[in-house]
Amino acid sequence: SAAQKDGYEWYMLKEIVEQPKAVADTLLGRHTQDGRLQLDEMRLSDDELRNVDKIVAIACGTSYYAAMVAKYAIEHWTRIPVEVELASEFRYRDPILDQSTLVVTISQSGETMDTLMAIRYARQQKARVLSICNTNGSTIPRESDAVIYTHAGPEVAVASTKAFLAQIVACYVLGLYLAQVKGAKYGDEIARILDDLIATPAAIQRMLDEADVVRKIAADLNGARSFIFLGRHVGYPVALEGALKLKELAYLHAEGFAAGELKHGPIAVIEEGVPVFVVVPPPGRNEVHEKVVSNIQEVRARGARTIVLAEDGDESVVPYADHLIWLPKVPTLLQPLVATVPLQIFACEFAAQLGHDVDQPRNLAKSVTVE
Ligand code: G6P
Repeated sequence: SAAQKDGYEWYMLKEIVEQPKAVADTLLGRHTQDGRLQLDEMRLSDDELRNVDKIVAIACGTSYYAAMVAKYAIEHWTRIPVEVELASEFRYRDPILDQSTLVVTISQSGETMDTLMAIRYARQQKARVLSICNTNGSTIPRESDAVIYTHAGPEVAVASTKAFLAQIVACYVLGLYLAQVKGAKYGDEIARILDDLIATPAAIQRMLDEADVVRKIAADLNGARSFIFLGRHVGYPVALEGALKLKELAYLHAEGFAAGELKHGPIAVIEEGVPVFVVVPPPGRNEVHEKVVSNIQEVRARGARTIVLAEDGDESVVPYADHLIWLPKVPTLLQPLVATVPLQIFACEFAAQLGHDVDQPRNLAKSVTVE
């Protein structure tokens, strides 16, 4: 009913709007005033965590893209190598695991069969398993050595939104916690990033307040039948998620690519009028920014309609953008929390405009409990 949807037309829209709270609630109680992480629920001892020499992050669907984001952040903060793998591939390739491997699984439902099977396999190989999960008491956390719950609240729409942002936050919390356990050397950086993280709900709220910009883009692109999403660094999983959302909801061809791979194939599909979304990393220290700006020029020179997501004040993209979505200033590693939001809104709006059932897309299930 409309009441259950808080007056929104779709659960998905309601859940998109709940994201500032999902992020804040997932941080709640997990840090102290003086900028330290605390994970009272962590069932692995500091000694066990200090012993970890490799992390393998495993998930399916949207949760897999959260795992991709986690790799960039956790490796940067902890210097522990992180492999990211689809649950359905993991146990069929004879993966290398032992007591010092931490397997991190990410699942909204806690019931995805491939992810569960990956956990069982990992534990047989003596790896420790920590699950990031949104559903209390579900099978995956019950079968794991440790759990970090995401506090996004129940997610009803088949396409995941608020659970995704909460998963990314839980991965950051885990990464910062591991960095803290590993040594005080990272102390200042942890406190700084934690402050930035605590500020993200307000930044996400701004993306919601500016949703009309995205609605207008969806209306302008009416009729498009194929979409490309480009991103680099943590913007790459954001691009993949933007494409997945659109595919799931609008039943159209949408593909995400690492922007640096443009010349290795994707540029061949660019033709007159194809919408290309580009997630631009924050300018500054990072030379990757200029490279992504060149990618925008390259696709536009071949007739693409560019929809550019760039940080406030990044004037360098303006000449090459047919449409602009401004993002609040946040550290590069946290940018997925803001950049994902307009892509979710776009997919929702575009699908609704085609007359599709946004909450129950054809052929998809909320939880895939068969292999
Ligand atoms: C299904 C859902 C997706 C979800 C994926 C993984 O495909 O439709 O939204 O991302 O399963 O589910 P999980 O519950 O393990 O996160």
